[in-house]
Parts: sequence; structure tokens; C-alpha cells
Amino acid sequence: MARVHPVFPQLVDPKGVNCSNQPRDIGITTDETRAYTVKTTEGQPEVQFGGNSNPYVDYQFIDLLHTLQAPRSEGYDETCFYLMGQVKELLFNALHFELYNAKHQIEQDQIIEAIRMISRARVITTYIGKSWDVLSTITVDGFNEFRNHLGQASGQLSFMYRHVEFILGNKSARLARAHSNIPHVWPKMKEALESPSLYDSIIALLARKGYAIDAQALSRDWSQPYAPNESVEKAWLQIYQAAKTDNVLYELGEALITLDDHISQYRWRHFTSVSRIIGHKPGTGGSAGVGWLRHVTEHRFFPELWSLRTSL
Ligand code: HEM
Repeated sequence: MARVHPVFPQLVDPKGVNCSNQPRDIGITTDETRAYTVKTTEGQPEVQFGGNSNPYVDYQFIDLLHTLQAPRSEGYDETCFYLMGQVKELLFNALHFELYNAKHQIEQDQIIEAIRMISRARVITTYIGKSWDVLSTITVDGFNEFRNHLGQASGQLSFMYRHVEFILGNKSARLARAHSNIPHVWPKMKEALESPSLYDSIIALLARKGYAIDAQALSRDWSQPYAPNESVEKAWLQIYQAAKTDNVLYELGEALITLDDHISQYRWRHFTSVSRIIGHKPGTGGSAGVGWLRHVTEHRFFPELWSLRTSL
């Protein structure tokens, strides 16, 4: 939307905001205290609070959160881009949390719990994919109004997104390096690069369950991207040949391929939305732009789960 000047409502005065990221005290309530409160309010929502805040605002730093937007241009579409970018960052965090916990459950042979987490990760991925419906309302001229103000900022510099890629096994020492100068981010990024992924942990689980897995799939340089392995495909094939709903490993395989499918759809929407917005111009992050985005749509995190279909 070009040549419309944004009007910022300034709903929060930043001068009054507590900028600490330390949890604010909101106390604890119980069934008993809530029953007592409802008597005093006669069933109406509570509206009287002391101090200069309220428990909802304090629980999730809501006032602080709403002061963390600083668009850099007069371009109308930048606010949409800015807020959707922040929303997506939080969703990448939610996605990583589920995958990280799924890995921990797998390491303790808690397969059903891991499947639940992977299934939630899939729904979060679908939800992130929907963000392109909003972002693709940004027109070419609307984007051009603020693009120069992004400098070299690009989503490919998102450390949270990189954590998602790494826990799924798509390692890249080169892309990780973009964060090596950030002392409060780098140690965990390096650890993620050098640690087994969720899929590596699942392969170790298959070995624990008695499937014949090659030694090099169980111990290798984890900082290298995952490469398909014949013994892993054979193990999945055996599992898929015994496909039943009470076969938890089969259910795990289906949860994984469904997630992979939806991430691929997310990448495809990024590619098509970006093609609409910048055509074949280079990206702000130094890549060739849509060419790079198209190339990553081909990636599969769990390659054997795709290739085994041909043998079934
Ligand atoms: C709507 C305008 C957008 C355009 C035109 C755009 C364009 C691009 C381009 C060209 C790349 C390739 C790397 C480079 O910059 O050279 C890229 C990568 C990326 N973008 Fe976007 N993007 C947009 C919005 C977003 C948003 C809102 C996010 C979410 C935070 C995002 C997340 C990413 C990520 C995570 C990558 C890295 C992909 C990977 O490593 O596989 N993009 N984007």
C-alpha cells in the first residue's frame, strides 16, 4: 500500500514501562481465593488493582512487549511487516520448544509423549505458514517504501529459526557463524550445531529397539547436515510394513513426515510470497533471493521417510 502515511496511535507511554526482563510478582490464586473474589465482585470481572499495573500486564510483560516496535520508515506496510516478523519469531520459539522437548522424551523412550509434541509442532508450523496470507498483502511498491531501511537485516539471520533448522538436523556451520559475534546467543547456537538432532535421537531409539542401524549413523560429526542412510531406511521400511495404529514407531514416522510436509509448505509459501514482493531482486541478507528460497523448498529433514514410499 504505497503513498499512505501511517498514523501511530501510541497506546503505551514508553516512559512508564518497567524494562526489566525479570518476572514481575503476580502472586498465586487458588479455587478458594477465586471463589472468595467472585463473591466480592458479585460475578463481575475484577477492575480494581493497586500499584501501577495489573496481573495480566505483569504476567507477560504486555506493556513492555507493545513498546518493542520501532519501524524505520514512513512506509505504511512496514508496521505489518514488523509485527508479523515479531509474531513469527515467537512462533519459531514455540516450535523449537516442542521439538527440543520431543528430543528429550525420545532419549527417555517416551515415544507417545514425543509424538504429542511433534504433532503440536506440526500445528504450530501450519499456523506460521498462515502468516504468509497476511504478509503477501504487502505490495511491491509498499515494500519498496521501507526495504532500504532494513539494511542487511534478513530472516536468514534469525537465530531462533536456525535453532529450529538445527534441532531438525539441517546443520550449517556457515549459517551458524552469523551469530558467532553475539555472546548471549552463540554458546547455545554452537551447542545446537554440535549436538545430535531430534532425528539423530530417533535413529538411536530405533537402534535401542533392535533395528540394525549402521555405526556411522549412531556416532558421527553432528555438526554435519544429516545425509540419508540405507540402514535407517531399512529400519523404517520394516516399521512401515507392520503399519498398525498400535505400532508407536509407525505413528512416530507419520508424525515426522507430516511435520516435514508442512515445513516444506511453509517454505513454498515464503518463496511464492517473496516472488510476488521482490521478483528476482537479491535478498537483503546477501543471497540471490527467490533462487535461494526455491532451493530450500527441496530440503527434506527426514529423507528416508520419503524414499521408503517407493518400496512399499
Ligand atoms: C515479506 C517480506 C519478505 C521478503 C521479501 C523476504 C525475503 C527473503 C529472502 C530473499 C531470503 C533469502 C535470504 C536473503 O535475505 O538473502 C529470506 C530468507 C528468510 N526469511 Fe524472509 N522475507 C520476507 C519476510 C520474512 C519474515 C516476516 C520472516 C520471519 C521472521 C522471514 C524469515 C526468513 C527466514 C527464516 C529466512 C531464512 C530461510 C532459510 O535459511 O532457509 N522472512 N527471506
